[in-house]
Order: sequence, then C-alpha cells, then structure tokens
Amino acid sequence: MNVMTKTKLRYELIKPKIGARILNSKEELLSGELAAEINDLLEERGVLVFKQINFTDQEQVTFTNSIGGNALEVRGEEVFKISLDKSVNKEAVEYLKGSLFWHVDGTMNTVPIRGSVLSSKVLPTWGGNTEFANCYTAYDDLPQKVKDDIDDLRVVHSMWHSQLFHCPEPTLDQLRDWQSKGEGGKGERNLPLVYKHASGRKSLILGNTAEYVVGKDTQESARILHGLREFATSEPYHYAHHWTLGDAVMWDNTGTLHRAMPYDPDCGRMLHRTIIKGDDWG
Ligand code: OGA
Ligand code: MN
Repeated sequence: MNVMTKTKLRYELIKPKIGARILNSKEELLSGELAAEINDLLEERGVLVFKQINFTDQEQVTFTNSIGGNALEVRGEEVFKISLDKSVNKEAVEYLKGSLFWHVDGTMNTVPIRGSVLSSKVLPTWGGNTEFANCYTAYDDLPQKVKDDIDDLRVVHSMWHSQLFHCPEPTLDQLRDWQSKGEGGKGERNLPLVYKHASGRKSLILGNTAEYVVGKDTQESARILHGLREFATSEPYHYAHHWTLGDAVMWDNTGTLHRAMPYDPDCGRMLHRTIIKGDDWG
C-alpha cells in the first residue's frame, strides 16, 4: 500500500503584526508542494524569512517560479545583483541609493511586482539590515474615519521624486533622465493610495516614489503621505532583518514597504533578487 504524506508548511511568527520564519527544508520548498500555503502566508504576514536556506541562483529562480512565476528583473535577467559596488552594477548603483528610503519596488511598471526574494551572498561589514513594514496590518489598524477619507484617493508616483531623497540637487540633465524612466516613458504613474488585493484585503501604497495626492493642496498631500508612512513604519508593523550569510527573505511587495539601512558601499555587500509578477494596479 502506498502511504501518501503531504508536506506541511511549518513556521513561527516573528512579531504579532509582521513576519514569519519558515522552518521547512530547502528540498521541501523546492518541491513546489508548499506554493499555495506560502502564497497565503506571504499576504498574511507580509514578510517570510528562510534562515540560512543557501539557495543557489538556480534554486532561487525555481523557488520563485513555483510561488507565482518570476518576472524578468530590470535588466532582463532572472537574478538581479543588489550591490552598491560600481564594478558590479555600474548604471544601477545611483538609483539603488533610493532603496535606502522606504519604498515599494516597481511603482513605475505597468504591471506591479507582487513579491520579491532576496538572498544574502556577501554580508556587510557594518549596517545593511533590510527593514520591512506591513502596510496591510497598518491599514487595518487605521481609525475608520481615516479609512473613509483615504479609500478612493490616488497618488502620483515618480522615479525622479524618489531620487531626490539621496540626490536633492540634480543637474537639469540628471532630472530629465530620471523623468524619462519607467514603462510608458512618462516617468510617473497614477496609483491607488489604498491597494485592493484580489483576496479582498487592503494595504497602503506609499514610499519614496509617492509624489503627491491627486486633488489635494501640496501641504495636505504631504501630511497624508508622510503621516501614513510614519504610522505604517512604526514599531508594531516593523521588522528589521539582520542578515546571516545564506538567508533568503521574501516580501509581499504591494503590501509592504522596505528599505536598506546604510552600509559601507565598498564593503562588497551582495544580495541576489528575483521577483514575482503581479496582476494589475487597480
Ligand atoms: C531591493 C531592495 C534592500 C536592501 O532589493 O529591492 O530594496 O537591503 N533591497 O538592499
Ligand atoms: Mn527595493
């Protein structure tokens, strides 16, 4: 008689409102059997940590594909090397500095990035944690009056706005170059402030690309965007991942914010990223 045993997802919670540590073996994760449960848990927890799972690039691509089909990375590669070392990433280094501020990846894309996986290949000498904020649970905890006020608001996101955080005085040419970036070539995208996920859950789309709230004066717009970002990244919704070599971390990209903490750009810190394509922005 054949006894069929189905692999179960095993995990522990990191904080009440964000994060779970997955305890399954690499073989179990690569089997694809856990994909549906991982998808559900990703949305429930915002961030999933796979301690010292030591994915090779090929394994990371296989795993990412099993979760939802990975999109090609920004330069058409399956794996994107996240490093501030100019010899690794000549043209990407400048815009990667934007990742030191809270953001959602791919806000300039026509199709959102639903999730991302980062694997640690070289540790930083100091700093370099990756921080996450759960914008589902933060949204859930907003007072009903605030939810009613913001539910239908739209926000213009732009790449150039995100770059001003680390380069506040660009040349005109530099500014023009940033403004030409993004799919559709407009350099900006009008997105919902409250993202309605297929599951029915809602989260906030914020971050350094969020330039202004459509229809609000500039001061009120800034208060809305900064106030919500302050709340969503506050302690209950916040998780800082301190990297150990070989860790992988996966996040729900349209339901969370993330950022890198400062580190020595010459230290060789290296993370490999794969991404999962989403559906639409709503
Ligand atoms: C990213 C990113 C953060 C980090 O890969 O999208 O923002 O800690 N990385 O390098
Ligand atoms: Mn990022």
